[in-house]
Amino acid sequence: MNYESMRIAVVTGGGHGIGRATCRRLAADGKRVVVVDIEEDAAQSVAAELGGSARTVNVGDEQAILDLVAGVESDEGPIDLFVSNAGVGFGDADGEAASKGGGIGSVDDRWEACWRINVMAHVFAARALVPRMRERGGGYFVNVASAAGLLSQIGDAAYSATKHAAVAFAESLAITHGEDGIGVSVVCPQAVATRMIGIEDDSESFDGGFGGNDVDGILRPEVVADCIVDSVRGQRFLVLPHPQVATYVERKASDHDRWIAGMQRFRQKLSDS
Ligand SMILES: NC(=O)c1ccc[n+]([C@@H]2O[C@H](COP(=O)([O-])OP(=O)(O)OC[C@H]3O[C@@H](n4cnc5c(N)ncnc54)[C@H](O)[C@@H]3O)[C@@H](O)[C@H]2O)c1
Repeated sequence: MNYESMRIAVVTGGGHGIGRATCRRLAADGKRVVVVDIEEDAAQSVAAELGGSARTVNVGDEQAILDLVAGVESDEGPIDLFVSNAGVGFGDADGEAASKGGGIGSVDDRWEACWRINVMAHVFAARALVPRMRERGGGYFVNVASAAGLLSQIGDAAYSATKHAAVAFAESLAITHGEDGIGVSVVCPQAVATRMIGIEDDSESFDGGFGGNDVDGILRPEVVADCIVDSVRGQRFLVLPHPQVATYVERKASDHDRWIAGMQRFRQKLSDS
């Protein structure tokens, strides 16, 4: 299915950040946008701005995704594009990769939340939609993972592990369902100016500067939204809004030990600064 003929798009985590920018870009391109978020007010405000509809859903709950898909398709029509963008990360609160403590709530609850929201939400969306898309000859999934799904997020083992799983699931989806006319893109940015990295929700005033592990610069969410639309238009699987990531992936594949040593040095540099 080509981008121009797509009519209805669902975006999870559409209330803020990358999801909200994607909703805006899709609406500007004439799509009917369904804004999905766990935060009801955020979803409603984006939907009101764009003349779309809002649904309050926890994407980590399979029944809620089944109800979302069934509800949108019966009220508004077939979903052509499903953007699984909602995601969470909590950090290794005490600095240990296999930590058993620290942070908010129990560490197992944080792993479980990463697993359900960063991975299973993508599986739930595919389970709900693949049979419908196959029957009507196609559709498209955009799964927002992270560069942490190809490399590693220093200081967040659960985020890194689950984003790797998200990339692997997107590969399986693309390999298995290409012949059903189903397209898949997986989005792997480094830092983006959103609440997830502690930049408040007004990327308009973001000046590009920020400390931390933003070696290749922090992108505005609008740039990522444009990359998402370009990848759907071009039917490209791997979306790298920071092009440097392609080089890092090549280096990692060519010499894993050297790459680990480089990451160890980088981690040390971050903890010194
Ligand atoms: N910001 C970055 O630096 C960065 C880098 C790489 C990848 N990403 C990924 O981009 C995606 C979007 O993140 P963002 O940076 O825009 O962050 P954000 O915090 O601004 O937005 C995330 C949105 O998801 C919603 N959400 C969280 N849990 C949910 C749930 N269970 N059900 C439904 N909605 C839920 C939040 O309410 C929020 O609106 C995430 O998957 C994130 O991992 C972000």
